[in-house]
Amino acid sequence: MELENLIFKKANKIATITLNRPKFLNALCDQLIKEINYVLDLLSKDDEVHVVILKGSHKAFAAGADINEMKDLKLISHIKKDFIKPWEKISKFKKPIIASVAGYALGGGCEIAMMCDVIIAAKNAKFGQPEINLGTIPAAGGTQRLVKSVGKSKAMELVLSGSTINAEEALNYGLVSKVVPLEDLDKETINLAKNIANKSLPILILAKEAILRSFESTLSEGMINERRLFQSTFELEDRKEGMMAFLEKRPPKFKNN
Ligand code: CAA
Repeated sequence: MELENLIFKKANKIATITLNRPKFLNALCDQLIKEINYVLDLLSKDDEVHVVILKGSHKAFAAGADINEMKDLKLISHIKKDFIKPWEKISKFKKPIIASVAGYALGGGCEIAMMCDVIIAAKNAKFGQPEINLGTIPAAGGTQRLVKSVGKSKAMELVLSGSTINAEEALNYGLVSKVVPLEDLDKETINLAKNIANKSLPILILAKEAILRSFESTLSEGMINERRLFQSTFELEDRKEGMMAFLEKRPPKFKNN
């Protein structure tokens, strides 16, 4: 597939997807989502890649769903073609994804950042769900994941008023894991990605699955799943290697099996 709306690179077990639709502040048109999904499909089969970075420009991570494409839709069009459905592939991707956010992460932009596993924000980042100003409501998890990240009161404030929060507020509310100066965003994101990339790929996949189960289900269900996933790591050579390396006081040599 020819990539018109994103730039894709991979090196040293890290893949970087850069949203690149600057004229529309990376608004998430159907074609852009198709391209993200195409790349994620390739990456899920690529054992050389352990972690993915999803980023935008300095001005915008993504300014939301494409309002031009939505403006004439009716309920019947959504019933025939749920254009948000393909977005879910990001949240179902098994390997770790880091959202590296500068500038606007609004509406669908905030939602796809929240579908990622870790959000690192530049100081100029702005998060919000302004759909209410367009006479509609969020559709890709903005009323769901946001509540789990920032709590009910702040989520209500953002969704009902359409106001935005800056990076420091997002950090205080637990929406992002770190705030860094804009000029350090790439370096900080890559440092985290490198750290993750050095781990065993199957163990990363299991660790991510365990946390997502906690996020998406009850505590007791999450605990049962965590215990089973923990036990399943004992079938992997990398688990044995990790423990032996500790006992032998040397760094582990993971073989991803
Ligand atoms: N869809 C389509 N085009 C968009 C867009 C969007 N979501 N956001 C920005 N653009 C376009 C603008 O129309 C403009 O195009 P033109 O140059 O052709 O006029 C260009 O990008 C630059 O935008 P602005 O001139 O508005 O830039 P600004 O710096 O003055 O403002 C902004 C930036 C505050 C982000 C403003 O663009 C904005 O409010 N954008 C819309 C944000 C929004 O409402 N997002 C939610 C969308 S709905 C959604 O996402 C539903 C869902 O849950 C899935």
